[in-house]
Amino acid sequence: MTEKRAQFATRLGVIATTVGSAVGLGNIWRFPYEAGVHGGGAFLLIDLFFIFVIGVPVICAEFIIGRHTGSNVRGAFKILAPGKAWGVMGYIGIAASLLILSFYSVVAGWTLEYIFQSLSGFSGVHTVEGLHNQFDSFAQSDWRPVMWTLLFLMCNYMILARGVRKGIERMSNILMPLLFLILLVFAVNSLRMPEAMRGLEFLFKPDFSKITPEVLLGGMGQAFFSLSLGLGCLITYSSYFKKETPLVKTAFTTAGLDTLVSILAGVIIFPAVFTFGQEPAAGPKLVFEVLPSIFSNLPGGMIWSTFFFILLFLASLTSTISMSEISIAYFVEEFKMSRAKATRLNIVIAMVFGSLCALSFGCMSGIKIFGFTLFNLFDFLSSNVLLPIGGMITSIFVGWVLDRAILREELGISSSRMSRLTMAVIVFCLRFVAPVCIGLVFIFGLNIF
Ligand code: PHE
Repeated sequence: MTEKRAQFATRLGVIATTVGSAVGLGNIWRFPYEAGVHGGGAFLLIDLFFIFVIGVPVICAEFIIGRHTGSNVRGAFKILAPGKAWGVMGYIGIAASLLILSFYSVVAGWTLEYIFQSLSGFSGVHTVEGLHNQFDSFAQSDWRPVMWTLLFLMCNYMILARGVRKGIERMSNILMPLLFLILLVFAVNSLRMPEAMRGLEFLFKPDFSKITPEVLLGGMGQAFFSLSLGLGCLITYSSYFKKETPLVKTAFTTAGLDTLVSILAGVIIFPAVFTFGQEPAAGPKLVFEVLPSIFSNLPGGMIWSTFFFILLFLASLTSTISMSEISIAYFVEEFKMSRAKATRLNIVIAMVFGSLCALSFGCMSGIKIFGFTLFNLFDFLSSNVLLPIGGMITSIFVGWVLDRAILREELGISSSRMSRLTMAVIVFCLRFVAPVCIGLVFIFGLNIF
């Protein structure tokens, strides 16, 4: 442990940075596209189950570990269970964070391209067909997506090099409320579209026959990804929390706001998908094809569009900063590297893998591993495999191994009934519900037997 670690300055700072980590492309890009592929309402239902029944207790578990040890993810397990196999969680976290940072930066790079496309009025293209072609020819061209990926990672580097409080906290405090406002405006606009009802039905009416093992696995992965959960990101962030920060409340606020943003994104996208006769199951490009159609039909569309992609870019930054912080804190604290060097190492790794992911839409699209392109493989492996495994390890560790006194102290459990009930529910979820549900979804979703 370092002697004097940074801490987030204010309560708003804690919420804004944690929500800033959670809210990002996972909500606005990944949620609508995964919901589109996996049948809408059924997917949302599974996602909500995993967010509130499993996600919230596991967030609390990560917070307890992080704040109690005040350490990076690997160091935290070394302090709490020295010499034990639990330390493997450190490696899972670092591997997952680097995988996610790589493919995430590609999509964040797309937002940069779209800022410029918006400024040019999408070169005068207004038809749905034309906008599709424009996306395809951009993503398949080789150098542009790579260039934006690298540029995005450079921005990430510049903020990270300035340290924890100054860079991250200030930015999040201003940006997150602004993003929320603009999403509200777009949602109202989408609700007025002719096919709004069909879109809402697709999103909110679960068709139970669509719940397949694949949908379960996808919904679980989405919940973990969107909450930044299972890779020690929240362990790292909560190691900067003060003793007074109420953990359970912060966990609920984070999950609640994060869910709200995903649902808003769905309410924006699906009415438009049906109104413009688009395909809900278009995959990763869905949002980048649908949003421009919305903007081109909106008065002052170019300005809205530019503004929106700038905010989306910034929301991605607050998320990538948090995932980078996992390995930076690890390199600094475990290898005694300087912060500057650790930051450079993290960014260089992401630049190499990120470029490969960007090319997997273009010249490397024929290269498949287990049937996945590199981009899809990184996404699947991290979200649907590593994060749930990380979540399972964390919940078993805190539920079964960690001293109860630590739980009580960190959760601020008093002798009141309400307080004891909260503790009992969290412990029950961590001991039984989370490991069993994650285990079952793995067995069926990955077809283990
Ligand atoms: N939760 C972020 C999002 O929804 C992504 C993320 C995953 C961030 C893992 C940090 C760690 O965009």
